[in-house]
Amino acid sequence: MKVSIIGASGKLGQYMVQHSLDKGYEVVGVCREKSVKKLDRFRGRITVVPGATNDPEVIQHAVAGCDGVLVVLVPWGVHDYSSGTAQAVLDHAEPGARLAFSCGWHITRDGKDRYSRKLLWQVKAFGRIAKLLRAADLDDQVEACRRVFASDTRWTVVRGSDLEEGESQGLPVWSRHVGDPILESNLTRRVDFALFMVEALQNDKLIQEAPAIVGCKTPSALAHASVPSQG
Ligand SMILES: NC(=O)c1ccc[n+]([C@@H]2O[C@H](COP(=O)([O-])OP(=O)(O)OC[C@H]3O[C@@H](n4cnc5c(N)ncnc54)[C@H](OP(=O)(O)O)[C@@H]3O)[C@@H](O)[C@H]2O)c1
Repeated sequence: MKVSIIGASGKLGQYMVQHSLDKGYEVVGVCREKSVKKLDRFRGRITVVPGATNDPEVIQHAVAGCDGVLVVLVPWGVHDYSSGTAQAVLDHAEPGARLAFSCGWHITRDGKDRYSRKLLWQVKAFGRIAKLLRAADLDDQVEACRRVFASDTRWTVVRGSDLEEGESQGLPVWSRHVGDPILESNLTRRVDFALFMVEALQNDKLIQEAPAIVGCKTPSALAHASVPSQG
């Protein structure tokens, strides 16, 4: 299996590189030129394509011949970086390739997610301040996901809860809607978010799904583990 990791130099990206190598995959990583050195520990084991992740030429080169594409969707800047990245992948991935995109719980596919007041407030406050400072544009991450949801490719949009660092606890559990009891703990180890992304490439049940994930060892996951959650 050959995978391309778009946004390989970030925290999530580096975990995905490691998981992919652990599985014996051939890895092509894309990251900004100035971040290439962050991937030094993988030197000789992966191919690095330096460039902006929303540059169609960079992406076309990086995804050529790949069976899977793992995409870190980030809202940084105010120049449509997220939607540009998603569009470039949708346009250039090999026909039939498995695609997995990362985002947060704030993204909703069908409007049926039930958010806590705290989360709604956080998203609103962060969104406004970040846009005012021209640091990030959450609306563009929403637009990126809208384009993915509308596409007929073999996509999965993985929606991460709050994240923490730490040793892997295993594959997160998931549910279709934020607000479902199994997700209540709202915490996932970043290393396991990455594991879910990589595993999603081989899980056909996740094709055209937008799983919201939570750590498998969290209280809510343990309390509801025997209840079918994916509905
Ligand atoms: N952080 C959270 O609490 C949280 C919660 C839920 C879901 N998520 C999702 O998890 C994914 C990873 O997020 P993360 O917070 O953990 O970050 P991360 O893995 O560290 O990744 C950040 C990415 O953004 C890039 N980046 C940083 N500044 C940039 C800029 N100004 N212009 C363009 N790219 C820039 C980084 O590239 P360089 O290496 O080149 O800097 C890196 O690829 C995202 O999809 C996010 O929506 C995060």
